Amino acid sequence: MAAAGLRLLGAVWLLAALLLLRPGAAASAAVAAVDGRRAIAATGEDFVCATLDWWPPDKCDYGTCAWGRAGLLNLDLSNKVLLNAVRAFSPLKLRLGGSLQDKVLYGTADLRQPCTPFVKNESEMFGFTQGCLPLRRWDELNAFFQKSGAKIVFGLNAMKGRVPLPDGSMGGPWDYTNAASLIQYTAYKGYHIHGWELGNELSGKGVGARIGADQYAADVIALKTIVDDIHRSTPSKPLVLAPGGFFDPDWFTELIVKTKPNLLNVMTHHIYNLGPGRDTNLIEKILNPSVLDGMVSIFSNLQGILKSTGTSTVAWVGEAGGAYNSGHHLVTDAFVFSFWFLDQLGMSAKYDTKSYCRQSLIGGNYGLLNTTTFQPNPDYYSLDALKKLQSICPICIELSQQIKTQHLLHVQIFFPCFFPWTFSPLQCFTVASPHGNQSSSNNIQWHQQDPRLRPLR
Ligand SMILES: *[C@@H]1O[C@H](CO)[C@@H](O)[C@H](O)[C@H]1NC(C)=O
Ligand SMILES: *[C@@H]1O[C@H](CO)[C@@H](O)[C@H](O)[C@H]1NC(C)=O
Ligand SMILES: *[C@@H]1O[C@H](CO)[C@@H](O)[C@H](O)[C@H]1NC(C)=O
Repeated sequence: MAAAGLRLLGAVWLLAALLLLRPGAAASAAVAAVDGRRAIAATGEDFVCATLDWWPPDKCDYGTCAWGRAGLLNLDLSNKVLLNAVRAFSPLKLRLGGSLQDKVLYGTADLRQPCTPFVKNESEMFGFTQGCLPLRRWDELNAFFQKSGAKIVFGLNAMKGRVPLPDGSMGGPWDYTNAASLIQYTAYKGYHIHGWELGNELSGKGVGARIGADQYAADVIALKTIVDDIHRSTPSKPLVLAPGGFFDPDWFTELIVKTKPNLLNVMTHHIYNLGPGRDTNLIEKILNPSVLDGMVSIFSNLQGILKSTGTSTVAWVGEAGGAYNSGHHLVTDAFVFSFWFLDQLGMSAKYDTKSYCRQSLIGGNYGLLNTTTFQPNPDYYSLDALKKLQSICPICIELSQQIKTQHLLHVQIFFPCFFPWTFSPLQCFTVASPHGNQSSSNNIQWHQQDPRLRPLR
């Protein structure tokens, strides 16, 4: 019952996982059971999302400059591989933002100063001066988004007009003049923007700076008014998203309570649960189920807040790169990172997250695409497989979540499902008929000999 627009994730549990993977040898049975009666969550059709960031080529971490020309101001939009990589998902949701987003001006008519790029300056927050998005570049980006069929979420500068407050936070109302001009210009040009997001990592304790939840709620309401007003004659208005920051129960609750029931469409939060990119134990963490499960409390806490406050706001992961400060070469751009990534996708879906944005589509050491060659890294294929399998094998998503808490060896049972080409003979089977079928009362046995199962390829 994969109704259009919704994919039901059936509740699944593992009865037994007896998997002998000897290449070339006839594989023994892998047995799992699917309870098709109970759907535990539903993701949106456009669950899959990736980010584009503002970092200039001279952004460096630990002596490595991993961004190259992958930033929004200098990405080569004429690259065919890039175009096809985005087009393959149509639609791929793209969230444009990142640390420098709160230092970006827009080259609209109201900007009474030159529209100049970021300049490296170590004494500035995040190591760069203010930058600016020229309208010419915004036009080029939108032409690319249109051509590639991407759905765009744009992160606005939420720091304009703020002043330091005695408690160390930033305050005063948001100066939305420049942002409103960009939204107005975008609507006037007929560019379709899926959502406007307010600010980056200013929630809770903040990263670089923080803003109180009470002020933030007022600013979200201001943004909602601007967006609705500019789009008053259009039936489908862009979404309003916030705060694009790290989860903090009190701060998030206050924002929800003060914007409920419908002034904030999406609550976005960020995930870097593996620590800094320079950590030399990243692989151990990625392969450790209890580290991976550390996120369960955040997902379920946020789900609980949204449920209990009676709001229509839904949750997205707006940016998740696993290891902060640009990730780690040969870890976050390697095959092993899919253990973290696919698990995150499964876990977030289970707790009713409607979309999950991977940092990044390109740039840093965690790009789905190689920064210089634009060739797909392993996680691009994982995401591609997930997207394809979502329609025919939705149980895999949940299965991965259940199995990883058993023994690590058992993780392999889900890998054949996501990586059918890595195993010989093929191990992935899809349930031919009643996946996610809530009316079906029988458990389905996962077994190679079972006539209800058919090889994927
Ligand atoms: C870097 O920024 C600091 C603080 O804003 C400023 O005083 C300094 O002049 C800047 N340095 C350069 C080289 O522009
Ligand atoms: C990108 O590809 C080049 C050429 O194959 C390789 O040398 C480089 O390590 C790759 N970069 C990343 C971040 O994977
Ligand atoms: C769902 O299950 C019912 C009862 O077992 C069955 O009649 C129906 O065909 C199933 N639907 C799908 C789409 O598999």
